[in-house]
Amino acid sequence: MQRGLIPTTVAVSEPAASPAGPSRHTVRNPYSALPNWLYPTFVVIALSLFGAFAVWVVFFQNNGEYYPYLSPFYSPLIHVGPIPPGVWVAWAPLAFRLTCYYYRKAYFRSFFWHPRSCAVEEPKRRYRGETAFPWVFNNFHRFAFYATVVQVGFLWYDAILAFDFNGRFGIGLGTVIMLVNVLLLSGYTFGCHALRHLAGGSLDCFSCSASGRARYRLWKGVSVLNVRHDRWAWASLFSVAAADIYIRLLIAGVLQDPRWVL
Ligand code: FES
Repeated sequence: MQRGLIPTTVAVSEPAASPAGPSRHTVRNPYSALPNWLYPTFVVIALSLFGAFAVWVVFFQNNGEYYPYLSPFYSPLIHVGPIPPGVWVAWAPLAFRLTCYYYRKAYFRSFFWHPRSCAVEEPKRRYRGETAFPWVFNNFHRFAFYATVVQVGFLWYDAILAFDFNGRFGIGLGTVIMLVNVLLLSGYTFGCHALRHLAGGSLDCFSCSASGRARYRLWKGVSVLNVRHDRWAWASLFSVAAADIYIRLLIAGVLQDPRWVL
């Protein structure tokens, strides 16, 4: 192979044990020296832990507010009878992440091994993609995106309110955590593949009209965030959990919020 050329094959394997080619166990990821089991194990553990934590917060907790901070699980804050406030909010980000193109890849490869990666054969199952229940619901990703954009708007509002300490401007550790969280969530949300298609898809010519040129600039901007969509996805998942845990520890009196108020 010439130096500087990117290899076009997607898998490198150890010497084949049989003339039929490498077995599934000998296929190696050419883009990472890490063991093959590490990524699926990480995905299964991280998503399972987050899922269990989210269920506990959404269905079994009623308070996520420590003035002037509000947990992202409770934004916007809606109190109706005995129903926990998180129930009114959680469906949007849950649907958004469940149907996200990156998370689909992650959970199909890790939880279901369906398939384990591009270079390995499918298990002996009929693959119907997203044409049958339950995966057909993944086609509603765009609508989950619309709902999540609204929620991100509320989170920005909450982050701004987190600078307000009884009418005085201030910054606490909670302010910083809420700000970082909404920045990461915005990077994840506005790098969405569906938004990229909304911005630049179904168009034959970018340069033929003013609106086409505007859409090109928007598409380029979304593409910048989209390149590392997987990292935005993980970072924002962890920041949501971190923001909620921090506020919960303040409520419980375990931590004191360091703050600087004018
Ligand atoms: Fe991941 Fe839309 S593709 S959020």
